[in-house]
Amino acid sequence: VRAPLIIGNWKMNLDVVEAVHLTQQVAVLVRADPPEHAEVVLAPPFVDLRSVASVIAADRLDVGLGAQHANPHESGAHTGEVSVAMLRRLGVAWVLVGHSERRTHYHMDDEAVAATLRAVSAGGLRAVLCVGEDEAVREAGDHGAFVEAQLRSALAGLPVGARESVSVAYEPIWAIGTGRTAQVEQVAEMAGVIRGVLAGFEMGEARVLYGGSVSPANAAELSEGGAMDGFLVGGASLAAESFLAIVRAADGCYAAKR
Ligand code: PGA
Repeated sequence: VRAPLIIGNWKMNLDVVEAVHLTQQVAVLVRADPPEHAEVVLAPPFVDLRSVASVIAADRLDVGLGAQHANPHESGAHTGEVSVAMLRRLGVAWVLVGHSERRTHYHMDDEAVAATLRAVSAGGLRAVLCVGEDEAVREAGDHGAFVEAQLRSALAGLPVGARESVSVAYEPIWAIGTGRTAQVEQVAEMAGVIRGVLAGFEMGEARVLYGGSVSPANAAELSEGGAMDGFLVGGASLAAESFLAIVRAADGCYAAKR
């Protein structure tokens, strides 16, 4: 059993002042009742990273810093983009790769996802590879094959030595931001599919997270029955109380399982 990883994906929310405020609130709650096992990561917008990093450092907070995206190129004519090296310099340790919102709204195809995964791990950062099917694929019953293909295409070109830097987040698109969390059985089924593919890449140690309308109300149930190693949290990570409630639920379930 792997210690849980909980990542707050703030998406395009919170300007720098609001981001500092939320980080300070998270700091107060973490200090008051530190999670025993869970690893906690905050993934703010690019423009907030430096200030959030400062709060984490000043408070000596045991919280990691994540970015929501990176460009796979080292430098050059990529207007509006940010490189892995730039993120590393800011103290970023984690990068979300191929979030469904990037894939759907910003034309990030499988090839770009694979290139980004390679660049993130080559740059010494830890990648969270996001996969998940949309509603039509789920209704057709093709979700297992779809997610398997997403995983294979992203992992195929990855050097063997880079595999240990990769975690996977299963995020069914129909559950993201909709309040329609996947059922525990659906999550457990996909955990099996994903673990099967990972085993083929000798990535049995990789953490597999669930994302999609995770909340304090469903986190314990998903932790217990879903066979996941943590959560990628969107909406509920924008308030310190609900985010920490999810962290505690995952932490408690892990402690009980050990
Ligand atoms: P949500 O987002 O928790 O708001 O559904 C999850 C995600 O997209 O990472």
